Amino acid sequence: MAAPVGTGKREQQPERELRTSGVTVRFAGLTACEDIDLAVRPGEILGLIGPNGAGKTTLTNVLTGFQRHAGAVVVDGRDVTGWSPQRLSRIGVRRTFQNVRLFAGMTVAENLEAAALGVGLSRAAARRSTAGLLERFDLMAIAGSEATALPYGLERRLGIARALVGDPRYVVLDEPAAGLDEEESDELLARLRAVPDQYGCGLVVIEHDMRLIMRLCDRLHVIDHGRTIATGDPAQVRADPAVIEAYLGSAAAGKALAHG
Ligand SMILES: Nc1ncnc2c1ncn2[C@@H]1O[C@H](COP(=O)(O)OP(=O)(O)OP(=O)(O)O)[C@@H](O)[C@H]1O
Ligand SMILES: [Mg+2]
Repeated sequence: MAAPVGTGKREQQPERELRTSGVTVRFAGLTACEDIDLAVRPGEILGLIGPNGAGKTTLTNVLTGFQRHAGAVVVDGRDVTGWSPQRLSRIGVRRTFQNVRLFAGMTVAENLEAAALGVGLSRAAARRSTAGLLERFDLMAIAGSEATALPYGLERRLGIARALVGDPRYVVLDEPAAGLDEEESDELLARLRAVPDQYGCGLVVIEHDMRLIMRLCDRLHVIDHGRTIATGDPAQVRADPAVIEAYLGSAAAGKALAHG
């Protein structure tokens, strides 16, 4: 990296990444996450995978301020350990939930606008952000519809759009394809693929849909029983004996891993 002009010496630039360092979470006798080091950079799509109960949602909760833990969470060089979800959201660390949680009694557009105001945007900026997301996520035609009355696929699409209000730096998506059929999953893949370029953010995607994950992600981080068992690009990870072993218990996932 070139030295900044005028300083006369090389200055250390903070690494642009969302990172956990030695993160451990224990629930009364059960270790849900153990000593996890995970990192995602802006513009990158990282898949966080592992069998049921591996600790993926717990780690999502850690990354987004919902779960107390040992170890550290660092955003672009800043230690944000212990920050609240609201504070993290305001500096651009966002998430979706495994179960969609839309604001009831509001339209599609109002859901986006409320989320934008919630992360600190002005009314005008919230409106701009909403208009952009309605267009990019093909929600314009249903902007005035009651959000919680939408068909499931659209509800999930809106949930993802809502996490992107105000150009976040990092977004964690917890099972965005859950319950979608193959066609809807392919459509989601195309949409998510475009997100880092359109929004400049880093994505962490948690999914059991291996067909989606293998096509979508630049890199994978695999956990099992709370521990990291593999990291690497999709081709490396799907050939990793520890990963195959972890998935053997789940016939469907194992098959998808082999053929996805
Ligand atoms: N609040 C909690 N209290 C006690 N145990 C919990 C709590 N939350 C999660 N766990 C346990 O921690 C482990 C990890 O759960 P987690 O929900 O993070 O897994 P996951 O990888 O997201 O699973 P899934 O793929 O089924 O969503 C599980 O054994 C779960 O039962
Ligand atoms: Mg989960």
